[in-house]
Amino acid sequence: MIILGIETSCDETSAAILQKEGDGVTILSNIIASSADLQVKYGGIVPEQAAREQVKAIVPVLEEALSQAKITHSEIDAIAVTQGPGLIGSLLVGVETAKVLAIIWNKPLIPVNHLIGHFYANWIDNGNQIPAFPCIGLLVSGGHSDIVIFKDHGVYDYLGGTRDDAAGECFDKCARLLGYEYPGGPKISKLAEEGDPTKFNLPRPLYTSDDYDFSFSGLKTAFSNLLASIDMESSKVNDLCASVEQAIIDSLIHKVIRAAKQHSINQIIVAGGVAANKKLITQLTQQFSGKVLSPPPILCTDNAAMIASAAFYSYIRIKPPDLQANPNLSLQ
Ligand code: KG4
Ligand code: ZN
Repeated sequence: MIILGIETSCDETSAAILQKEGDGVTILSNIIASSADLQVKYGGIVPEQAAREQVKAIVPVLEEALSQAKITHSEIDAIAVTQGPGLIGSLLVGVETAKVLAIIWNKPLIPVNHLIGHFYANWIDNGNQIPAFPCIGLLVSGGHSDIVIFKDHGVYDYLGGTRDDAAGECFDKCARLLGYEYPGGPKISKLAEEGDPTKFNLPRPLYTSDDYDFSFSGLKTAFSNLLASIDMESSKVNDLCASVEQAIIDSLIHKVIRAAKQHSINQIIVAGGVAANKKLITQLTQQFSGKVLSPPPILCTDNAAMIASAAFYSYIRIKPPDLQANPNLSLQ
């Protein structure tokens, strides 16, 4: 079975073609065009600008996905598309394109929740182990930080999530305070490699709370106050980056391991852009007695392969006219 995935929830325009063989799914092509370079000029993502770029990119990206997969549209069995959450203008580009293609090519149309899609990057075959149920899912992206228990495909319980900023948002905002462009996570983690994470004392909000929630907005404020209170000339940016990165990582690891222990689950799957952070995965693997699975970095950040992968396991068809982009979809 071959599925075409389409993802346009934020500033990426992505189309991927995946094939299911046995237990895993393999990528035939995964094309990702980003308007990030353009957004840098504006200091962040301008939603209308992102959507305008996606309107221009969607057809060439689709053509490239088919060409790299060396297939024609007649070989596609279904079309999967991100329904939400995300920026409404961006979502509409992908959703309306998928609806039109489903009608003119006469293919089943499968809507995918972007957040669930992130987790399904773990089911893509990379020579890695495919997750087994039950498992704890930790989603850490630019807009979300959530913990769920997966009991089966499409069956999960929501345990908790961020009460304010997401983990990736905290990386991005702290990077911005240091003068770095979006996305700040990769920049902070690169600079942190040469830094001392114990140099500056930053809070781990909600660390001891008896729930599975996170809060990162206070950490960002503490980081901002710290910057205002120190002599930047003599302070190493690397130490600042290492210290804030460690505070975020400690908060995430503590809660997700507690969730796994309290539910007697020995497998954690990590997903979302922040899962590309090597230190997070290394430290979680060292501290958790069970298995930790995470996708390769290219499949952590937004991509259409994860959307197609999710569709294989939650094959729920919708009539094209009934599909509406939903910017507010969540895991709850
Ligand atoms: O999943 P994603 O591509 O988009 C959303 O759905 O939000 O995640 C983007 C987020 C950004 O906040 C970015 O700074 C963060 O992922 N990110 C990282 C790393 N790579 C991307 N954060 C920390 N370390 C990284 N290596
Ligand atoms: Zn995402």
